Amino acid sequence: MSIELVDNRIKNAVDVLRRGGLVAFPTETVYGLGADATNDAAVQKIFEVKGRPSHNPLILHFASLEAMLPSIDLSCGDLSSGEDSSKLLSQLQALSTFWPGPLSVVVPRGPGVSNAACAGGSTVAVRIPNHSMALALLIAFGGPVAAPSANPSSYISPTTADHVRNSLGEKVDLVLDGGPCAIGLESTVLSLVHKVPTILRPGAITAEALSRTLNEPVSTEANTTQNEALLSPGLLSKHYSPKTRVVFRADYIPDPTRKLRIGVLLFSSYKESFEAVECRQLSETGSLEDIATGLFAALRELDALDLDLIVVDSCGESGLGAAIMDRLRRAAH
Ligand code: TXA
Ligand code: MG
Repeated sequence: MSIELVDNRIKNAVDVLRRGGLVAFPTETVYGLGADATNDAAVQKIFEVKGRPSHNPLILHFASLEAMLPSIDLSCGDLSSGEDSSKLLSQLQALSTFWPGPLSVVVPRGPGVSNAACAGGSTVAVRIPNHSMALALLIAFGGPVAAPSANPSSYISPTTADHVRNSLGEKVDLVLDGGPCAIGLESTVLSLVHKVPTILRPGAITAEALSRTLNEPVSTEANTTQNEALLSPGLLSKHYSPKTRVVFRADYIPDPTRKLRIGVLLFSSYKESFEAVECRQLSETGSLEDIATGLFAALRELDALDLDLIVVDSCGESGLGAAIMDRLRRAAH
């Protein structure tokens, strides 16, 4: 893409990144809070603005696999068993069928990557987002952009530019508005530095799809141990949470002696009457895509109403359902 064709907003955003500033930008999953991933001081600002613990590493965003490879140490495959480099490269080439797309891969960290972005660790998470504005920014910037979700640490991820402005406001130098995010849930995080490729965070790319593509088993067991959670803090059981208490509809027992102000989040049309102040219905038919797309915006809306309780539906755990239930369990923890 010639620089003349890059729209002014992208040029401004590139200037901000080059000066070490922060740019919030849309992706297909959620909005990211981006900084130059080779600039420690710029990356440090991300942690300050989000109130994010410095031990929680960031995902690096690239425009292509070619642009990504120099940030990866291909000389060591499986860190625990000393697998050879060709295995890691073929795994990445196979996984690139999901890119651009909602998949982040944890690999051995290569040279030039900011220490702060990797939280001082020996691994790095990388992905190619599937959004024209994000890709235009990454191509024009020409280097890796470190970006967590653009929300205060442990709050709900933003799926619109307004969500970013409302919760981070002046602390971000520039917000690129690319409309609402199509998927609405953060990317699948897959570790290739475990003995068996392991999902650290479920997302729109499922374990079954990854296993088929890699032609080997993929573990989903990482979520259960506290050790893993410390390596990938997004796994902590309390995360992605509104301020208001969240409870699953199946666990909710009405108490007629207490007059609670309740908000309800439904996944499909539901006839039974419910004593709710506010109700949001994410789908007529229980479509998992629709539920994922609308989930975070609806949780933010309900959370702004000063309710006593948010009662949420649940869904089956297959496909996108695993990611939806993962986020809701953390919200309800
Ligand atoms: O969809 C997404 O992934 C969005 C968009 C902006 O790309 N980003 C995002 O970033 O959700 P963040 O920082 O909110 O979540 C990244 C997750 C965290 O759970 C973090 O602990 C984990 O990935 N992570 C990042 N680097 C890691 C590493 N080197 N090893 C293990 N886990 C890592
Ligand atoms: Mg996040």
